[in-house]
Amino acid sequence: MNSMHWLRGLVYRLRAAFHRRRNARRYLASRHLRGDGIEIGAMHFPLPPHRGMRVKYVDNTSLEDSIAKFPELRGQNLVRPDFIEDGFELASFSPASQDFVIANRVLEHAPNPLRTLSNWVRVLRPGGALLVSVPLAEACFDRGRTETTLGHLLQDFQATTEQLAARNLVHYVEWLSISEPAILSVGNPAYQKASAVEIERRAAELCHLQAEIHFHTFSRNSFESILRHFASHTPVGLRVAQVLETGGEVAAVLIRIH
Ligand SMILES: C[S@@+](CC[C@H](N)C(=O)[O-])C[C@H]1O[C@@H](n2cnc3c(N)ncnc32)[C@H](O)[C@@H]1O
Repeated sequence: MNSMHWLRGLVYRLRAAFHRRRNARRYLASRHLRGDGIEIGAMHFPLPPHRGMRVKYVDNTSLEDSIAKFPELRGQNLVRPDFIEDGFELASFSPASQDFVIANRVLEHAPNPLRTLSNWVRVLRPGGALLVSVPLAEACFDRGRTETTLGHLLQDFQATTEQLAARNLVHYVEWLSISEPAILSVGNPAYQKASAVEIERRAAELCHLQAEIHFHTFSRNSFESILRHFASHTPVGLRVAQVLETGGEVAAVLIRIH
């Protein structure tokens, strides 16, 4: 197969996965989301809201900065955030103020996912729903990275800021060794991996800048068991209402009980 055929096949598979993902998210929203809520990190792929939903958008990056960061997204219908702030913290949102929180393909960017999940649940009203999805590592450029365990996330949760920075350095090395080459080598047979020394140097630089990467990687089983542990240990009372794997990602809905 020549490289043009291979590239066409890749585009076809990506489009098909995109449609399956969008349909699954719509289905979960129609079953579980109602009222007034927020979507974090919607960017170029917001969840299409049904008529019973009113959505405000949160991102840590303005529309203009997102386009500057990802010029390939210019011309796409990018969401303009209503709130520009750290969506892992949601510091400006009152507890129990939202009927739903949506975060599609955002949690893998969080250095401390259990803390982030706690913040998302904090702003839910009793009966409110969190729709959260993450990419399957096996189905994206994270393929080959170490799967994140619950134990790892519990250690992140308990780590001091300095300890978390040291733990993140390991993720930057993994990102530069596996994920970035997988992205940059697509359609570029001449691509050459960086040396170990260069990777160490860049990892320290990214760590200093607190650059955004996929810190953690998931499979359907690991993500579901992490969410089930989280749901049964969080003080507010949560139940895992549904978990779906489709289109290269795993999506779940958690309902706040009280
Ligand atoms: C990979 S994109 C996800 C886009 C879309 N939701 C999807 O499903 O493909 C990640 C999004 O999360 C946003 N993001 C990353 N870290 C964030 C943070 N700390 N607070 C708010 N948004 C964040 C990014 O700016 C971007 O819009």
